[in-house]
Amino acid sequence: MAPSPSRPLEIHASGPLKGRLRVPGDKSISHRALMFSSLAVGESRIEGLLEGEDVLATAAAMRSMGATLERGEDGVWRVWGLGVGGLLQPAGALDMGNSGTSTRLLMGLVASHAVTATFVGDASLSARPMGRVIDPLSRTGASFAAAPGDRLPLTVRGIVPAVPIEYTLPVASAQVKSAVLLAGLNTPGITRVIEPVATRDHSERMLRGFGADLTVEQTNEGRILSLRGEAELRPQQIVVPGDPSSAAFWAVAASIVPGSDIVIENVGLNATRAGLFEVLRLMGADIAEQDAREVGGEPVADLRVRHAALAAAEVPPHLTPSMIDEYPILFVAAAFAQGRTVARGAEELRVKESDRIAAMAAALRACGVPVEEFEDGLAITGSGGEPIAGGAQVASKLDHRIAMSMTVAGLAARAPVTVDDVAPVATSYPAFFDTLAALQGAD
Ligand code: S3P
Repeated sequence: MAPSPSRPLEIHASGPLKGRLRVPGDKSISHRALMFSSLAVGESRIEGLLEGEDVLATAAAMRSMGATLERGEDGVWRVWGLGVGGLLQPAGALDMGNSGTSTRLLMGLVASHAVTATFVGDASLSARPMGRVIDPLSRTGASFAAAPGDRLPLTVRGIVPAVPIEYTLPVASAQVKSAVLLAGLNTPGITRVIEPVATRDHSERMLRGFGADLTVEQTNEGRILSLRGEAELRPQQIVVPGDPSSAAFWAVAASIVPGSDIVIENVGLNATRAGLFEVLRLMGADIAEQDAREVGGEPVADLRVRHAALAAAEVPPHLTPSMIDEYPILFVAAAFAQGRTVARGAEELRVKESDRIAAMAAALRACGVPVEEFEDGLAITGSGGEPIAGGAQVASKLDHRIAMSMTVAGLAARAPVTVDDVAPVATSYPAFFDTLAALQGAD
């Protein structure tokens, strides 16, 4: 994937945000929908797929390993899968762009197939640790050659038959969990993953939907997932709910821009993903759920969000995994709250698309917000609802969520905030700025 040219953007203080909007399909669910459909025998249909660069990287990888994926003019994707065990040798390296989820999940898939695949990515992805997936997958018999520090570029030599493993996750990571489960799909016997702390459960839900024999047991040690390998997946009709991680930006934007009143439609509210909304409510945000329903086996609702005076909070550590991608935008909410918000226990933020603790500390400080940095989080003293100073250039560090978070901060800053590069937003939310313009224009 050719790197997109840098796109700096100056953000000005905004009038009230008004109107209804739809967020794009859930990124985690979209990746899994493409991968599992590619392993089912027959034609699956996927509605509401996120067409961001990360998910398109997964689509391209599945194509280069033999699956047929087509986007219809109606926006519905049709996928003709090869069956578990049916992946073919790709002709060239798999370009994962910026996407950690594509990389780690596909490493798992390749590990138990007769495939040798090389994974490459952009500068951000090439700095991220892959040892967390290489460790368990090596135990299946697959072999790995990686750049120093277990980074990309990295080659996986899959093995057939792979050995089923039992693995206790040392970090709370849905990507590692899913990589092991995906390796287990084409492995004889039972692959077991023990998850001491629950993380997003989309892989489990969707694998069962595709007909895999996967049991989930809640014990004192945590959740135990047992997957029977050599699975036969049946093609599915999938409807992807809206991404709560994308809705998060608008929930905070409407909370901090005076006079705002918006409805975010079709937001996935799986409990393993919805932690931010809980914390925002603890802070006094005005978020009402409307028309709660189920879409594609996931709980969904429309969220009406109105401007509110926010108060500082201590972020409850048990919510960390269910809001791991939302810390950057939570830090923005904290910058406008009354008092000192403390968010700790989130050291995983150091190894996301950027070091999100350092990136947000630097960006908010540049905008005049008092920030204290810890190894595992930040403490932020908010403005009590007043505009923050702004008037600075901040660095998005090839990280879509930093770019969107600082855009939102700029909407309620006294002087314009310049984000040095908003091009990474296209990885997860290509229509973000169009939606912002619509919310600013509708009255
Ligand atoms: C994801 C899991 C999380 C999250 C990422 C998507 C997934 O990563 O940060 O954006 O789809 O499984 P970790 O597993 O590294 O926590």
